[in-house]
Parts: sequence; structure tokens; C-alpha cells
Amino acid sequence: MKKLQVAIFISGRGSNLESLIQSSYKKQSLVKVQLVISNNSKAKGLVIAKKNKIPSIHCVQRKNFENKVIKYLKNIDIICLAGFMQVLDSKFVRKWRLRLINIHPSYLPAFKGLNAQNQAIEAKATYSGCSVHYVTSKIDSGKIILQKKVKILKKDNTESLSKKILIEEHTIYPKALQMVAKKILSKKK
Ligand code: GAR
Repeated sequence: MKKLQVAIFISGRGSNLESLIQSSYKKQSLVKVQLVISNNSKAKGLVIAKKNKIPSIHCVQRKNFENKVIKYLKNIDIICLAGFMQVLDSKFVRKWRLRLINIHPSYLPAFKGLNAQNQAIEAKATYSGCSVHYVTSKIDSGKIILQKKVKILKKDNTESLSKKILIEEHTIYPKALQMVAKKILSKKK
């Protein structure tokens, strides 16, 4: 079976990148991680790509980022944003409609945007979570693919909540990617 080719966009640590790579090694995986693109030359995720012998590029210029990376995406079927902290332009987002997905550290639609875990703590919410969704030009607003709730205890702070959410992120993101791949493959038939 020919696997779908995935590019992963990162900006930093790359723990979601790692979980997506590891799950892609499973025999039944419908995807292969083919490329990593970072907008930060010092992103730890670039080391993870190298360790796994996955080609990577970095492009730190915000201006024209999309035009600069497009040539590397010719054979790519799906793009995963994994801690990619840059808003992509709407033309690019439209071109990749239903093939561009993101993970966000909250139970959307609550706590969109930056520092979602801190927003949940500040709001004294009783739960938050994480969500994988299709990317649209409205930030953190595309259709949800998969999400998971995480309880917030009185003793939790931003750090402890982020840790609990991250554990769930590493489970739902690979699952959501398989769901998206399955859908694309079923349309190709
Ligand atoms: C993750 O918690 C991810 O959900 C979040 O950044 C972190 C990246 O960690 N993304 C966003 O906040 C996007 N709005 P990682 O680099 O270890 O995957």
C-alpha cells in the first residue's frame, strides 16, 4: 500500500512531531512523515527530524514564508501543524483545505489563541483539553477532528496542566492524522 506523504510544520520542542513520527512507523499506519519544516532554526524538533533521518528545512522569514516552502510540498498529501506558532496566509490555507490540520492545547471552542493552558487556569475552568482540527483562515476555528478533555484540579497551575494536556495531545494527534488519511484515501478510490 502506498502511504500518504506528510509534512510537519514546527516552531519549537517537537514532542508532537516525535509522537507523529513514532506512530507513522506502525505497520498499519496510512502515512509516512516525509518532511519537517520549521520557522525557527533552533527548534529542538529539527534534532528529532535528523535522528529519524527525515529531511528538514527551516525558513525563518515570515514574509513570503508560504511561497518559499511551497516548492518542497509538491508530493505532500497532508500538512500537520505541531506547535507551529505562525499564522499561515489565507491563500495557502485555502489551497490545503481538508489536508491541513493543527493541534491546539484546549478543548475548543474554549481558549483559542496563545497560552491556552494559562487562559484555562486564569478562567478557573474545571476542565480543558486538546483538539485536533482542520485549519481555516479563522484561528483555531476549523472543524474538529478529535478532542479530549482533561480535568483541572484546584492544585493545578499552567505548568502542571500543560503537562497533562500534552500527554493527551500525543495520543489524539496520531489518531486524528490516521482518520484524515483514511478519508483522503477513500476519496481517491
Ligand atoms: C503543544 O502543546 C501544542 O498543542 C501547542 O504548542 C505545543 C507544542 O509542543 N500549540 C499551540 O499552542 C498552537 N496554537 P511540541 O513542540 O512539543 O509539540
